[in-house]
Amino acid sequence: MARRTKIYEGKAKILYEGPEPGTLVQYFKDDATAFNAAKKDVIEGKGVLNNRLSEFFMTGLNELGVPTHFIRRINMREQLIRAVEIIPLEVVVRNIAAGSISKRLGIEEGTALPRPIVEFYYKDDKLGDPLVSEEHILAFGWASHQDLDDMVSLALRVNDFLSGVMMGVGIRLVDFKIEIGRVFEGDFQRLIVADEISPDSCRLWDIKSGEKLDKDVFRRDLGNLTDAYAEVARRLGVMPTNA
Ligand code: C5P
Repeated sequence: MARRTKIYEGKAKILYEGPEPGTLVQYFKDDATAFNAAKKDVIEGKGVLNNRLSEFFMTGLNELGVPTHFIRRINMREQLIRAVEIIPLEVVVRNIAAGSISKRLGIEEGTALPRPIVEFYYKDDKLGDPLVSEEHILAFGWASHQDLDDMVSLALRVNDFLSGVMMGVGIRLVDFKIEIGRVFEGDFQRLIVADEISPDSCRLWDIKSGEKLDKDVFRRDLGNLTDAYAEVARRLGVMPTNA
């Protein structure tokens, strides 16, 4: 069998050349990292769950007309995606204070925010992905005014969709991160949701018990990570065993 060309390897995923021009294969690893890879482990089954969960969320968004890179799932650990030019920003939406906003601004974890807050972090592992302002983004040319408007609008639409879906299964969407990429269609560029949407990149709290069902289970040593992700998958009817 011919060896595939690896395009990029990140902390939790690998991108391979796709079967057609403009496509890539995204492979989900079992590796878990936190605190900019200062904490690492291999969590058996995590990649399979995230592949299925990201498929579920991205398919739902595509159906709603929120464009994403997702084309189709190939197998347990791989999905076919559109190749995009990733904008070097992590876009975070917060509904409830937790994690870095609580630390930075001294807001108690669990405090509802007055409205969803969109933040941008510059993607740079060496710098630890620092929070940046729209001024930085425009001045350093990472995105245009139009891109910023489009990114905020995409992020808020993803927030509406994800919050609603999670609420339906008794889970509060506290916050999440997405990455956004450019695709070029003739003379036009369009921004679409890329990377993954999974419990690795969201904070998900059980509405009744407050139990954490996301990567904080790993970051804070709260129990078994795959059990938490499998619970999210079970409630959403996403069964990784039928791959
Ligand atoms: O750490 P912080 O509170 O800023 O994280 C906000 C949200 O973004 C969390 O859901 C976290 O899982 C996600 N995130 C991520 N990748 C990062 C940083 C944060 O998925 N590099």
